[in-house]
Amino acid sequence: MSQLNNKDIVELGSGDCSKISILLNSIPKYNLENISYIPVDVSQSAIQGSSEELSELFPELSINGIVADFINQLDLIPSEKKRIFLFLGSTLGNFTKEEVSKFLTELSFKMNPGDSFLLGIDLVKPLMILHNAYNDSQNITAMFNKNILNVINDIIDSDFNENDFEHKAFFNKEKSRIEMHLIANEDMIITTPHSESEIRIKKGENIHTENSYKFSYDQIKNFEKITGLTIKETYTDANNWFVLVMFEKLNSHSDY
Ligand SMILES: C[S@@+](CC[C@H](N)C(=O)[O-])C[C@H]1O[C@@H](n2cnc3c(N)ncnc32)[C@H](O)[C@@H]1O
Repeated sequence: MSQLNNKDIVELGSGDCSKISILLNSIPKYNLENISYIPVDVSQSAIQGSSEELSELFPELSINGIVADFINQLDLIPSEKKRIFLFLGSTLGNFTKEEVSKFLTELSFKMNPGDSFLLGIDLVKPLMILHNAYNDSQNITAMFNKNILNVINDIIDSDFNENDFEHKAFFNKEKSRIEMHLIANEDMIITTPHSESEIRIKKGENIHTENSYKFSYDQIKNFEKITGLTIKETYTDANNWFVLVMFEKLNSHSDY
């Protein structure tokens, strides 16, 4: 962990502090004093909640949370010190192929020589494992999927009822992605006071809510070409279902 000494740890899409806590726990206390943690998330409550929790757990750590969009606002991230960017939880898998290229190109362009980038990736794995992960027996993924309707209701005062939909998740092999859908279990008319138009949904019609792409090592290797960054290390689990890839920026962008 000495490679983190005197660096800024910038976590993009930081969410809660569960993953960074594991990393911070492995750093000796006297080294934490030299490190700044910069969580970046669009969610103000996630930044506030995780910053408060982390400052209690790691009082030596300096925390500088930024509420920002990691696609368009990378310039808000301080660049005086060497940085290690973290992009964990396979958030990259929610992007289309074009968005992946654009995001990685943009990020590598903003990185300075000596900065590094740790990317967490969900790999292609046996179909049954993928299926069960998104159709869990406690219905956690189903609740997560249906919650999008509550979020829409909160934003536009609409009257979606999550009980009128069934959760459906399957692996689209051709596109190498899990697709999540909500299938209407009856005819309905959705209204909002913000529009005179209604949304008419028929029983059996579906709302495609999320894609979660699964990656191969060939695609990850190709990220080197897209970004000009160099893969320094990869870390995987015993089943080879997930991988953490450490990229490094060796040269300035114009050198390649
Ligand atoms: C799948 S969660 C991952 C959270 C955490 N990294 C983990 O692995 O547990 C994605 C996080 O990214 C944030 N997020 C999504 N799009 C974003 C964007 N464009 N800019 C900044 N944060 C974003 C969400 O608010 C959420 O906290």
